[in-house]
Amino acid sequence: MGSGEAQKRKRVAILISGRGSNMAALIQAAQSPGYPAEIVFVLSNRTDAAGLGFAQQHGIETLALSHKAFDKREAFDRAMHSALQVRGIELVALAGFMRVLSPWFCQQWQGRLINIHPSLLPAFKGLNTHRQALEAGVTEHGCTVHFVTADLDDGDIVLQATVPVLPGDDETTLAARVLVQEHVIYAKALAKVAAALV
Ligand code: GRF
Repeated sequence: MGSGEAQKRKRVAILISGRGSNMAALIQAAQSPGYPAEIVFVLSNRTDAAGLGFAQQHGIETLALSHKAFDKREAFDRAMHSALQVRGIELVALAGFMRVLSPWFCQQWQGRLINIHPSLLPAFKGLNTHRQALEAGVTEHGCTVHFVTADLDDGDIVLQATVPVLPGDDETTLAARVLVQEHVIYAKALAKVAAALV
């Protein structure tokens, strides 16, 4: 970037499947002056995702694209990819998107695809991470923003945050404590990745 020239904000899409609280945190963060990304598109693989309403209320274009309309995983991913491409998307953030992405899609978006996972990766990949943490008896748990690769919950780590596991915690209390940190680090991580993108 040359002499004081303001860097153009990166066009970001968020993929969701449900509640969308991380999506909401990113939308809110991106409203700050100087934030290096703008959220221009929210895509859900579920038509009933609660997060779609929040995005619409914030003037963001949404699309519900049901994976059930496609017979193959990659066919759905190719349709998503087209929807992202026609909108000039530069960076994709997964936020509670409950679909495993095909190697093809991960390859298309390599270095431009990030995810929030509710554990301190590489610990507790997959689902039910809070239950996994409680069953393992760890005293520290947390969340991770990472680049997405074709391997589940793998890929370079962008940011992590730690929370204590407290006596008497159950999955609900632990999940709530982690979620607060998810919202904080996802907003920071998206800014970091967007600012570094060429
Ligand atoms: C979050 O805990 C996220 O880390 C996980 O799924 C949950 C989604 O929550 N991948 P929300 O839809 O962002 O509220």
